[in-house]
Amino acid sequence: MTFKLPDLPYEEDALEPHVSARTLHYHHGKHHKAYVDKLNKAVEGTAYAGLKLEDVIARSHGTTHTNVYNNAAQAWNHAFLWQSMSPEGGGSPKGPLKEALDRQFGDLERFANDFKLAATGQFGSGWAWLVLDKGELKVVSTANADCPIANNQKPLLTLDVWEHAYYLDFQNDRGAYVDGFLQHLINWEFASANYDAKRMAA
Ligand code: FE2
Repeated sequence: MTFKLPDLPYEEDALEPHVSARTLHYHHGKHHKAYVDKLNKAVEGTAYAGLKLEDVIARSHGTTHTNVYNNAAQAWNHAFLWQSMSPEGGGSPKGPLKEALDRQFGDLERFANDFKLAATGQFGSGWAWLVLDKGELKVVSTANADCPIANNQKPLLTLDVWEHAYYLDFQNDRGAYVDGFLQHLINWEFASANYDAKRMAA
């Protein structure tokens, strides 16, 4: 089985002006594609060939196969990222996820503050996440390619804070990019569906 680049769930210009068509064109069509292509090359003829992407991440994590792990994690993270954003995003979560967020963070504003701090505070390249960790909602950041599923956390949504995700649109102003995501793009329906599925499975 070879890994495939998933299609974007919307048109390249659907997230404008918060993420430009130019950014999505390069981010999906060049960066994400390169991770998938490098992963296919890295696993060819190894024990990783034929495994599911999640299993490649789990089995390569903490080994000397950093090339496999990094490209597998980046392939997974980006597929998850496209779904974490929506042209109809922003607003508030509903249902059980809203209740859990209010319990954990007090209110949506405090969640947004914590998420922005994690996203802007991540030194260098990485990711900000809302995860379920032993049944508890947490905002975390990871460095470079690192994926929370390697640490037994269950991702609900993510934002890429590598410069390639925002530099064409915001140059060095990562905070403005994060604000645009939180106010206009964050896909609460996707996060809620993940929350419901993980809760059932727990
Ligand atoms: Fe990226």
